[in-house]
Amino acid sequence: MADFVGAVDQGTTSSRFMIFDHSGNEVAKHQLEHTQYLPKPGWVEHDPTEIWERTNVAIQTAVRSAGLQASDLAAIGITNQRETTVVWDPRNGRPYGNAIVWQDTRTDSIAKALERDGHGDLIRRRAGLPPATYFSGGKIKWMLENIDGLREAAEQGHAIFGTTDSWVLWNLTGGPKGGIHATDVTNASRTMLMDLETLDWDDELLGIFGIPRAMLPKINSSSDAEAYGSTRASRPLGSPVPIAGVLGDQQAATVGQVCFAPGEAKNTYGTGNFLLLNTGTEAVRSENGLITTVAYKFGDAPAVYALEGSIAVTGSAVQWLRDQLHIIKAAPESERLAKTVEGSDGIYFVPAFSGLFAPYWRSDARGAIVGLARYHTDGHLARATLESMCYQSRDVVEAMEQDSGVHLDVLKVDGGVTANELAMQTQADILGVPVSRPVVAETTALGAAYAAGLATGFWRDTDELREHWNESKRWDPQWSEEQRASGYAGWKKAVERTLDWVD
Ligand code: G3P
Repeated sequence: MADFVGAVDQGTTSSRFMIFDHSGNEVAKHQLEHTQYLPKPGWVEHDPTEIWERTNVAIQTAVRSAGLQASDLAAIGITNQRETTVVWDPRNGRPYGNAIVWQDTRTDSIAKALERDGHGDLIRRRAGLPPATYFSGGKIKWMLENIDGLREAAEQGHAIFGTTDSWVLWNLTGGPKGGIHATDVTNASRTMLMDLETLDWDDELLGIFGIPRAMLPKINSSSDAEAYGSTRASRPLGSPVPIAGVLGDQQAATVGQVCFAPGEAKNTYGTGNFLLLNTGTEAVRSENGLITTVAYKFGDAPAVYALEGSIAVTGSAVQWLRDQLHIIKAAPESERLAKTVEGSDGIYFVPAFSGLFAPYWRSDARGAIVGLARYHTDGHLARATLESMCYQSRDVVEAMEQDSGVHLDVLKVDGGVTANELAMQTQADILGVPVSRPVVAETTALGAAYAAGLATGFWRDTDELREHWNESKRWDPQWSEEQRASGYAGWKKAVERTLDWVD
C-alpha cells in the first residue's frame, strides 16, 4: 500500500517535486531554478528542454532524499505556471524554440487587433477573458506567424501546443515514444480558445486566432485516474506511477487552501499575485476587471468556477531589486532592508513591467517610482516594493467585492512571500482585514497532490481534505482608517501616472 502522493510544481522560476503523506504534511521536496531569458524589452522566455530536465532531476532527487521508491507513491499530480506556451514536434520531442512566458508582452499588437476587429466581446463572453498578452492564444498565433515553416508543420500534425503541464506530462508519459498530449480544464481556460460552458475548444475562437485544432491537447478533468496515464517505466522513477491530477498553479493553490465552497478565496504570492474566489458551479462574469476561470473539475462532477484577480508583478519586483538593482543579495533580505525605515514616506513603486493586469488590463502601462525626494533611501524603495504587492492585492479585492458582493472577513494567503512577516503585516494594514497563513504554505503542490489523491481514492473526499487545513499565523490590521485611506489614495494616483506610457 502506497503511503504518499507526489506533485510536480512547474513554476515560473523553478520546478519542484514534493511528496505528501496522508495528513497532507510535506515529506520531501526538491527544487531547481531554470534560466529566465529576457532577449528584448517585454520578452520573457524559458527553454522547455531545460525545464523538463530539471523537473526530471527534481523528481528523482526528492524521492531519493526521502528514501522512497516508485511503489511508495499512490499517484502524482502536476501543477504549472499557466499560459506559458510551448510548441514542439511530436515526432522527436524537439521544441520549436523557447517557450513564450505568461509575462511576455510581445503579442501586444495581436491583443489590440482582436479588440479593434470587434472580437473582444466574444472572447470575453465565451472564454471569460479580455484580449491580453497574458493568455496563450496570442502566443500560439505569434509563433505560427513568426517561426519559419511552423504553420505548415502544425497543419500536418507535426507541431503541437501545450502549457507546461502538457509538456511535462508528454515527457513523463513517453515523450516521442508515445507521450500523452493532454491538459486540464483549468489550464485550457487560460488560452482564450476554450468555451467556459462546454469546456471544449471553440471553433469560432480557433478561427479568429487561425489556430489548427490538431495542435491542441485533449481537455480532461483536473482529477482523473485514467486520462493522464502513468510515468514511463524508465525515467524518472524506474517503474510506472499513475498521473491522476493536473491543474494550473493558482487553481491548485485554491484546492490546497481547501476553498471548496462559494465565497471562499485565497491569495497566492509568487512571481505575481493571484487571488481566486470560488463562485461555485456558476461562471460569474466580472464587470470590474477580473477574469472568469475554471477553478477545478473533479472527475465527472460539474466544473467549479472562480473569479480571479491576476497581478503580473509582485515577487518578481523583489527579484528586480536583487538582480537588476543589486540592493539586496537574496529575496528575504528585502524585509530587513524595508525595516530600516518606518514607512515608505510618500514614495510609491508601481511595478508595471508587463503592463498592468487585473483590474486595469493596460498593456500600455510601464513601471514607475513616484514621490521621490533626495531624502529617500534603498530602505524606502524596499518598503514601497512590499507595499506595491499589497496595494495591487487591494485593487483586486475591491474589484472582487464589487463583482460578487462577498466581503472577505479574512484573507487566506500562501506562497513564498508569505514568509516575509513585514509584507504580511502590511497586507493586513492596507486591506483592513486579517491575513491568515496555513501551516502548509506550499499549497500549490499540495493542491495538485489532492487532485491526484482524490482520483485514486488515497483521500476520500473534500471534507477529509478540509480537516488538514490549520492556521499557522494571523496578522491583524494596525493602521488607522485614515492612514489606510490616504495610503490607498496615493497608490491610485501613482497608478494613473503609469498609464498611456507606450503606444
Ligand atoms: O498565470 C501565471 C501563474 O500561473 C504563474 O504563477 O507561481 O509561477 O508565478 P507562478
